[in-house]
Amino acid sequence: VLEGMKGLRRGQLRISVASTANHFTTRLLADFSRQYPDVAISLDVTNRETLLKQLANNETDVVIMGEPPSDMDLEAEAFMENPLVAIAAPEHPLVGETSIPLARLAKERFVLREQGSGTRGAIARFFEQHGQTLRTGMEMSSNEAIKHAVEAGLGLGIVSLHTLELELEAERIAVLKADDFPIMRNWYMVHRRGKRNTPVTQAFHDYVLAEAARHVRLPRTHSGAASA
Ligand code: PGA
Repeated sequence: VLEGMKGLRRGQLRISVASTANHFTTRLLADFSRQYPDVAISLDVTNRETLLKQLANNETDVVIMGEPPSDMDLEAEAFMENPLVAIAAPEHPLVGETSIPLARLAKERFVLREQGSGTRGAIARFFEQHGQTLRTGMEMSSNEAIKHAVEAGLGLGIVSLHTLELELEAERIAVLKADDFPIMRNWYMVHRRGKRNTPVTQAFHDYVLAEAARHVRLPRTHSGAASA
């Protein structure tokens, strides 16, 4: 990995990430910037819809998002799994049950991300594919807000396991053992086609592909493996 870095000194890197990816991106950036101290990095944390606009307007060098759109001229590489899990307050009656059918979950109210969130879109598609109606309770524009709302008993949530490290450790939130979960997605690194040609952008691209798995650990759920 250290090969090829010698010639690379200064430069600028504009990174935009889905808010859900922020949980691990900052960890990756800390390590990357130790290796490339003279690269000026700017990080924008926003939702999928805004990321797509930034790509279209050429306002960013690298995007980390849940799913590249098929109708834009992009280069995209999957580099890590992104499991979405169903969560509840620890005292919720469904906690402790096993093999909860989706039809049972669908009777509950969900606290969901805003329209335009990639997570929200994936959840909506999942319910639709399984012939279930998603009952929307409150909408919130950040994963942090959703976790607080779920903890306070305002409803169930479905969030990326990447966002749950602290809450699971502190046992403030429980992951439900629901059928068909996790909703398995991937994280992608995305560039406009032909935009990977600056050495700095290429270095970051190579760095993420090589190092993400080593630096990013999914938290374990109480039931054991993340994808159980
Ligand atoms: P978001 O990110 O829900 O914060 O938009 C995830 C994604 O891009 O799918």
